[in-house]
Amino acid sequence: MARRVRVARDLKTLRRIVTGFRSANETIALVPTMGALHAGHVALVRLAQRRADRVIVSIFVNPTQFAPHEDLASYPRTWDTDLAALSRLGVDLVWAPPVEAMYPAGFATRLAPEGPALAGLEDRFRPHFFGGVATVVAKLFLQCLPDFALFGEKDYQQLKVVTQMGADLAMPLRIVPGRTVREKDGLAMSSRNAYLTAEQRAVAPTLYRVLRDCAAQIRKGRPLAGVLRRGGGVIARAGFAIDYLEARHAETLKPVRSLQEGPIRLLVAAKIGTTRLIDNIAV
Ligand code: PAJ
Repeated sequence: MARRVRVARDLKTLRRIVTGFRSANETIALVPTMGALHAGHVALVRLAQRRADRVIVSIFVNPTQFAPHEDLASYPRTWDTDLAALSRLGVDLVWAPPVEAMYPAGFATRLAPEGPALAGLEDRFRPHFFGGVATVVAKLFLQCLPDFALFGEKDYQQLKVVTQMGADLAMPLRIVPGRTVREKDGLAMSSRNAYLTAEQRAVAPTLYRVLRDCAAQIRKGRPLAGVLRRGGGVIARAGFAIDYLEARHAETLKPVRSLQEGPIRLLVAAKIGTTRLIDNIAV
């Protein structure tokens, strides 16, 4: 049986352990998560273990990145299986603060990221989101003092926002991206996939299939606008309500009109029933 992973729930305990790592000259990698762990999170943990001597996984369902109408209350919480998985992986520490420790009464500071955070993708539909993410991620960095922090390409705009924040604020750590982990049928792993009914789950891989088709056509030189319009049609006919399907510059996230303006990243967000899914791929 794997030894049960150490858990810190208050800042004093976390600091004591982190100080121990640092005074032993051990490097630290942080994998921030909201729990409900799946193979995508596990891949980030494994990447972290290759990078650093010690790996901290934070589990914190961050209220400031959810709008009042969103799924904070129902967000999947699977603490026991998460802890078992992290124990099996040999993670060094789980940082799981209660909400009052992250946002005590009187908390009054919020980062306002711009640049990639205002690209007109997720921010158009979740205007509160990146402010909440940047604030909590900056706080997690200051609490855990990592040398590396790992973020998935699955949340591509988030990866860019956090990378920009690290550079802008001269944070002394490296942001390391991890590739998107998918189900066998191509659906990007997500904690929110748990919300899908069997029928919705069956059509959910359409998003990735369309992204791949679009990327192949764009690589062949077909005009972007038409490719995306036809792709959007396929997604809509599968039963999704599309928020966006766009081609953007892979680094700046600025709109692009042709392959020559690339490298291009295709990004999609769409709702099936009440569940909102996102995905993206390189062209
Ligand atoms: P969460 O959705 O739990 O994701 C935690 C990390 O896992 C993120 O970096 C995310 O991009 C990555 N991830 C999710 N699905 C993945 C997949 N299929 N393949 C690879 N990586 C994947 O993202 C958040 O939490 C929060 O916004 C957080 C950064 C923790 C701030 O609260």
